[in-house]
Amino acid sequence: MGFARELGADVVIDYETQNLSGVTGVDVVLDLVGGAARAASWAVLVPGGVLVTTRDAPSQEEARAHDVRALRFTVEADGAELAEIAGLVAAGTVTPHISATHPLEQAAAALTDIESGHTVGKVVLEVDSGSTDSGSTELGS
Ligand SMILES: NC(=O)c1ccc[n+]([C@@H]2O[C@H](COP(=O)([O-])OP(=O)(O)OC[C@H]3O[C@@H](n4cnc5c(N)ncnc54)[C@H](OP(=O)(O)O)[C@@H]3O)[C@@H](O)[C@H]2O)c1
Repeated sequence: MGFARELGADVVIDYETQNLSGVTGVDVVLDLVGGAARAASWAVLVPGGVLVTTRDAPSQEEARAHDVRALRFTVEADGAELAEIAGLVAAGTVTPHISATHPLEQAAAALTDIESGHTVGKVVLEVDSGSTDSGSTELGS
């Protein structure tokens, strides 16, 4: 909740104690959860609004029924785009939130953290700086 406010959210809803009833007039839903959270999201959108999800493909039938659009967003590995993003981070235009940094040897523990579904931001694996492939790699999003 605090993190969402830090990012600039005007209104924050605690999914564990509140629901979306009474929420209306939303232009864009970014669905990072799917399931029941997505099912409850259709009704908050304005006609012509859009739901964008990182989860499974959204139902086009459901979208039509609510007079909105529904899209699935998928990350693709693209060196040029990654370089552009690295430049934005280096310039301070984008500031990624890092939840935890683990040495490469603890990759399994890092994955377990991500699978908990409660990490916030990025989980980073740090490759031994003594190795030829030194550097960090992002593990989760
Ligand atoms: N399609 C793609 O290319 C792509 C790219 C990146 C990610 N993904 C997928 O997108 C999903 C989201 O990624 P992520 O990196 O944001 O996942 P994540 O790091 O696991 O998300 C964790 C966050 O979600 C919150 N959360 C958990 N359950 C929730 C619920 N029912 N309602 C609202 N918030 C909830 C948690 O809050 P609390 O800690 O307060 O519970 C935590 O802040 C994952 O399933 C991931 O696999 C897909």
